[in-house]
Amino acid sequence: MGEKERELLLDSFDSNWIAPLGPHVDAFEREFGKKVGGLHATALSSGTAGLHLALMILGVSRGDEVLLPTLTFAATANAVTYVGAAPVFIDSDRRSWNMDPGLLSGELADRSRRGKLPKAVIVVDLYGQCADYDPILEACARYGVPVIEDAAEALGATYKGVQAGNFGRVAVFSFNGNKIITTSGGGMLVSKDASAVSKARFLASQARDPATHYEHSEIGHNYRMSNLLAAVGRGQLTHLEDRIARRRGNFEFYRKALGELPGVEFMPEAPYGRCTRWLTCLTIDPGAFGATREDVRLALEAEDIESRPVWKPMHLQPVFRDCRVVGGTVSTEVFRGGLCLPSGSSLTEGDLDRIVSIILKERGVRSRA
Ligand SMILES: Cc1ncc(COP(=O)(O)O)c(C=O)c1O
Repeated sequence: MGEKERELLLDSFDSNWIAPLGPHVDAFEREFGKKVGGLHATALSSGTAGLHLALMILGVSRGDEVLLPTLTFAATANAVTYVGAAPVFIDSDRRSWNMDPGLLSGELADRSRRGKLPKAVIVVDLYGQCADYDPILEACARYGVPVIEDAAEALGATYKGVQAGNFGRVAVFSFNGNKIITTSGGGMLVSKDASAVSKARFLASQARDPATHYEHSEIGHNYRMSNLLAAVGRGQLTHLEDRIARRRGNFEFYRKALGELPGVEFMPEAPYGRCTRWLTCLTIDPGAFGATREDVRLALEAEDIESRPVWKPMHLQPVFRDCRVVGGTVSTEVFRGGLCLPSGSSLTEGDLDRIVSIILKERGVRSRA
């Protein structure tokens, strides 16, 4: 947090607008929408709330199916269950770790033949990198299936020069504490379609009909962002480009230090866009590297440094074990060897040096053992 956030937060506090609406919410929505390429936007209590609303707006309901990548955070799949629909998981593309467009296209063709098209497809922009939208949107358009973009991890990423957030009928961002900019918790739903955004705002405000008394003809939710947090978000937004530069700088440091070692592969940056490197992720092949992903994680932990395994694919999660998965070997491999290294925007070169030397030392110790 910086001085700007403090100033705006105190302004919000002193104005006594302590509510899930107010001038900072309006301003944050305007400024955020502009930042991601002139979209309409509504500020929410979380990215998960945004995914739930996106599914509601597209009319996804009980008995429907929704296709989504298996390699994602659970929130993407959980939201599908909130509306009573069933998730169907699609494996990753090796070139970006995002949803494999070929598998998606094949699954849609097969379902079209059987008259069982899904009600929607959720595409995730994983670890700061956009999915390969041209073939994905082309396949979805061919079968008339709407797309939701889960850009929770990818604020500032681009695909062929276009900002993340522009690729679905509706897109969702997260400002959870671990994201590239944060409001402690929060989210934003964006769309080119003003009516979709106003519908989301309505559903996020307990679906209160326009009347002087409290009138409700639909079920709503309490999903709006607080004016206090929107003030913090406005301050954070001013640092976005700097944060991306820092995160990409972390990645470059790790790549130079570890990239040539046998058995190490970083998450590839697909040639079609800019990855923010929200997190620097790599896979370790223990046979070639001399130590496992878990050896490295534990060595860092012993020095009080947190790193984390890559998301465990949804098709391997006990809670989703009965759901269909298309493919699955790529995401499983990425999970088995995958590690997210410390990637904060405030890491110093000294911190990065220390992390790298612990990894190299662990490799040395294990290879000799
Ligand atoms: C891919 C993905 N989708 C959705 C979410 C949910 O966002 P939130 O934590 O703001 O609810 C997150 C992260 O938190 C995420 O990483």
